[in-house]
Amino acid sequence: MSVSSSGKPVSNRAKFATNLGVLAATLGSAVGLGNIWKFPYLTGSNGGAAFLLVYIVCMLLIGIPVMISELTLGREARSNAIATMQKLAPAKQPWWLIGAAGVLAAFLIMAFYSEVAAWVFAYILKAVQGAILSTDPTVTKAAFNDLVANPGLSLLWQWIDLAIVGFIIYLGVNKGIEGVTKKLMPVLLFLLILVGIRSITLPGAGQGLSFLFQPDFSKLTAAGFLIAMGLAFFKLSVGMGTMITYGSYFRDDQDIPATATRVAFSDLAVSLLAGIAIFPAVFAFGYEPNAGPSLLFLTIPSVFASMPVGSVFMVIFFILTFIASIGAQISLVEVPVALLEEKFHLSRPKATIFTMLGIALVGSLAALSNSSLAGVHVFGMSFFDLFDYVTSNLLLPLGGLFIAIFISWIWGYKKLTAALSNNGRLANQLVIKVLYGILLVVTPVLVTIVLLNGLKIIQ
Ligand code: PHE
Repeated sequence: MSVSSSGKPVSNRAKFATNLGVLAATLGSAVGLGNIWKFPYLTGSNGGAAFLLVYIVCMLLIGIPVMISELTLGREARSNAIATMQKLAPAKQPWWLIGAAGVLAAFLIMAFYSEVAAWVFAYILKAVQGAILSTDPTVTKAAFNDLVANPGLSLLWQWIDLAIVGFIIYLGVNKGIEGVTKKLMPVLLFLLILVGIRSITLPGAGQGLSFLFQPDFSKLTAAGFLIAMGLAFFKLSVGMGTMITYGSYFRDDQDIPATATRVAFSDLAVSLLAGIAIFPAVFAFGYEPNAGPSLLFLTIPSVFASMPVGSVFMVIFFILTFIASIGAQISLVEVPVALLEEKFHLSRPKATIFTMLGIALVGSLAALSNSSLAGVHVFGMSFFDLFDYVTSNLLLPLGGLFIAIFISWIWGYKKLTAALSNNGRLANQLVIKVLYGILLVVTPVLVTIVLLNGLKIIQ
């Protein structure tokens, strides 16, 4: 029986019930608006295929290794992100700061993420009313601008989103997380494939496909590298304690490297499907690939408008996208909630309510970024962009950097081998050796260079 930081036995700590449940929940955290909204818009703004390639390299050499590390640390300590680092680190070393930075990142990400989820929610209603079903860029752009320029609606939909997420969190780990995610993923996948097929059969679609798949390396900048790396962290929900927290619910017999790899590749597949659904339509209908955060909301309605019974499919599409975002939001909110429960001994409902109120407070800054606070800029960015930038391009990479250093340099090879082989029960020695080498050198060096270069500290 293990013991928590408070000295309380934690043998009755909730665990995911089945291996499929583990996969579904971890995948549920990874897959979300990151795939359907962020991946296409960043790929579009940063030059297409070359950016995609850098992103994939970052996923392989940084994202997956850090994900495996976090899940391992979490399962080992069976605690929230901060207590995990406290338990596993040598006495008096402040590694728990990684967990603390993660809690901050969870709030900042939720602040803008809940607003994008709010847009998706609003689009469900718009789709039901049929107001946005058009292939005319002026119509779809006006519909989006109307929404984000309305402060009341921006806040209202965000609060509804937070209430829904809060309620699911309140229901608890097993019932809440596993139940919701397991069933709906396949349906979303089916719908994405359907949209993709329509999109690549549009006249002029070829241009979109070459934008996505034919790299033009002259379009890559140092800032682009940083953004691709940031996306790799964001996509796999790593660098901030989400996967530490989820690892703490993992079963002892779970094969962590295999699970993480499966999650990462499935996640990539969903992103690519979203890209295939969106980019051909961008070129076919005359949108700009670098439209920014509005890209999804402009192009997708146009694809549906050119499809038989498109209005029905569009309603289902936005409902499923909203549901996909919930799996990710639950995993974000779980970081502070687990902390408040275990460290401050709050009941789950109380921990959830405090967390959601905190998010609503910070989140309103992001929600109002295109309306009441449109004139307010910090470091040249709106609050929405600032929260997005600071988390993906600073907090998560720093978190990931220190996690890689911690697990390879401090925790060490012996403990890592024992943990990743499930105490010798898995025959994965080679995998562990390669992974150890990557975590020891490749990940830290790569993250450091991309970070310093992207932030223009070295050139
Ligand atoms: N990975 C999620 C997505 O792509 C977002 C996320 C980031 C979730 C960080 C948890 C932690 O939508």
